Amino acid sequence: MEDLRLDALPGVGPVTTKKLSDAGIHNIMDLIVRGPVELAEITGMDKDTAANIVEKARQALVEGGMISKDFVSATEVYKRRQEIGKITTGTECLDLLLDGGLETQGLTEVYGEFGSGKTQFCHTMCVTVQKPKEEGGLDGTVLYIDTENTFRPERIVSIAKAHGMDPEKALDRIMVARAYNSAHQTLILEEASHMIQENNIKLLVVDSAVGLFRAEYLGRGTLSVRQQRLNKFVHLLVRIAETYNCAALATNQVMASPDVFFGDPTRPIGGNVVAHTSTYRIYFKKSGKKRIARMVDSPHHPEQEVIFSLGDAGVIDPDSDTKKKSTKTAKSLKVESADPEINVESKSDSGVDADSKTEDIPEDSE
Ligand code: GTP
Ligand code: MG
Repeated sequence: MEDLRLDALPGVGPVTTKKLSDAGIHNIMDLIVRGPVELAEITGMDKDTAANIVEKARQALVEGGMISKDFVSATEVYKRRQEIGKITTGTECLDLLLDGGLETQGLTEVYGEFGSGKTQFCHTMCVTVQKPKEEGGLDGTVLYIDTENTFRPERIVSIAKAHGMDPEKALDRIMVARAYNSAHQTLILEEASHMIQENNIKLLVVDSAVGLFRAEYLGRGTLSVRQQRLNKFVHLLVRIAETYNCAALATNQVMASPDVFFGDPTRPIGGNVVAHTSTYRIYFKKSGKKRIARMVDSPHHPEQEVIFSLGDAGVIDPDSDTKKKSTKTAKSLKVESADPEINVESKSDSGVDADSKTEDIPEDSE
């Protein structure tokens, strides 16, 4: 089914179409992404009407084979999962950690303290997603939501050059939106959904996903509101990734400060909202000049750590200068079999326990 226009839906005439597009809903996909509750909220239509329109949209997409039915056979789930694309990180070590690369149809959260390389990782993925499929990319474009004003085109140029790609083309294929407050950040994402298909966006970056929410909602009293709003944002991100088969990448700063007396000092600042929704969570940790990345509670990855570095090419393999000569296997990139000093340090203070996600902040229920 090619026709995604709203007025292709039975019973939706010019008046409703206008009402919807005024609310930022431009096609049938947008209806699905927003869902009935939000639709009623933003258009002022009553809940039944909204539910009815979303149901029609859903049916239209099911008939067109664009989304799966509510109950599907395992075969169909399997088929849909086979459409999952993987984007190489440009490194052996992080590709190993991610079992091939960053996945589409899901959200990957990268959390870690300042300077741990989250933003550098985002920049690198902006370039590698553009590579052709044979080279581990998805030949796609990027939407980058920058909430901390840390997007640097110069970094894209240098990473692209290091990967033997045309830097101008690389820049052309990244759309950057600067978000000034958390409401704006959410609005950008809502508005973005209709651009995704038109522009073949395969990577959606939000760096950082949590920072603005955290700055605006200070103190215990506002925590539940913050978690609710953040929850809404993160779920929207996941729905977009699933609907459009693109990868969502969100960062989250954690403090590794010794002045935290209770709980895990490296618990993500966003609390549980991001953690429960993310498909994958990766913890970045500084270890001198090196960095350690750890896969945390993934449904189908072993919990393991790898060492990587930061350089002109963005995230790089720790031994990339000598890599050509080296005969190291992928396995030897794991922390366990690498530099024993780093190994000791990571075991003693990486501090991320699998059960850290079950801690406090009860407000994040759906
Ligand atoms: P916050 O956003 O503050 O939480 O940190 P972050 O995790 O996003 O850190 P970021 O990705 O900005 O990493 C910063 C580190 O990347 C710096 O300490 C540098 O070591 C490294 N880095 C940044 N740019 C370059 C570069 O051009 N070349 C090299 N070699 N390293 C760089
Ligand atoms: Mg950053």
